[in-house]
Amino acid sequence: MDKFRLTHAAAQKYDSHSVPAMFAPLARATLDKMSLPEGAHIIDIACGTGALTREIAKRLLGDGRIVGADLNETMIDLARQRHPSDAHDAAYVASDVCELPFEDGSFDLAFCQQGLQFFPNKPAALAEIRRVLKAGGKLKLTCWSAVSPFNGALSEALADHVGEAASNKAKAPFSFRDADVITELFEEVGFVIEAHQKIVLERRFENLFEQIMALPVEKDLSDSGEAVTRAVVEDVAVRLEKYAVNNVFIVPQEAHLFEARV
Ligand SMILES: C[S@@+](CC[C@H](N)C(=O)[O-])C[C@H]1O[C@@H](n2cnc3c(N)ncnc32)[C@H](O)[C@@H]1O
Repeated sequence: MDKFRLTHAAAQKYDSHSVPAMFAPLARATLDKMSLPEGAHIIDIACGTGALTREIAKRLLGDGRIVGADLNETMIDLARQRHPSDAHDAAYVASDVCELPFEDGSFDLAFCQQGLQFFPNKPAALAEIRRVLKAGGKLKLTCWSAVSPFNGALSEALADHVGEAASNKAKAPFSFRDADVITELFEEVGFVIEAHQKIVLERRFENLFEQIMALPVEKDLSDSGEAVTRAVVEDVAVRLEKYAVNNVFIVPQEAHLFEARV
């Protein structure tokens, strides 16, 4: 199976750039839409460096418990280091979503923030999440619902100046977003969808060069040289012109929030 492995440097870059830019705001926006049941035992699947796990730990009530699980040990190491001392404790485990090291029916609630699109075997992943939930347990899952205008502009600029592989890389996080396909997948493994809504974040791009070079396409751009990199950044700026406010680009990015029960 093709697995998504990250080096320590990639995990650090993810944590210092993508978490404050997107994943921490998305975690807060998701949890602002619900309240956590008192004493709930919760798992955060594909927790990465713990953006959502930490936010859950801050909001846990009573003797609630939270576990973060992620395939990449590098992400889990950072999640452990970043866990705040003034929140509930969290346990972090390195584990593939398809082989969670927990008994059947261990959790009241599972979260999965921006993980589904990366799972190679999506039905097996959802079936495993269902297995570790109690009867009546719930899954709250987010994934991007549209290619963001920023990533769309970057992907087009890369197609024109660098090549197809780099262009596709810029769009990869948005690869699995059709609500009907996701609904069918949930139902196929026995989840009942209770609610589906959209969350729209507003992302600020103050320094396009820095923000582009914090992404996995940095390598493709570095390999292509300075002139090509400059052309890509300028091209992205032109494509995003309608989002410019006082030299800052303020760009929407929207996600599905699915709430389902076993
Ligand atoms: C975009 S990140 C989201 C991380 C985190 N939920 C957040 O909001 O910051 C996707 C995560 O999925 C994890 N992942 C990918 N494939 C996985 C698998 N098969 N099992 C568990 N985690 C996986 C990656 O290691 C990565 O941390």
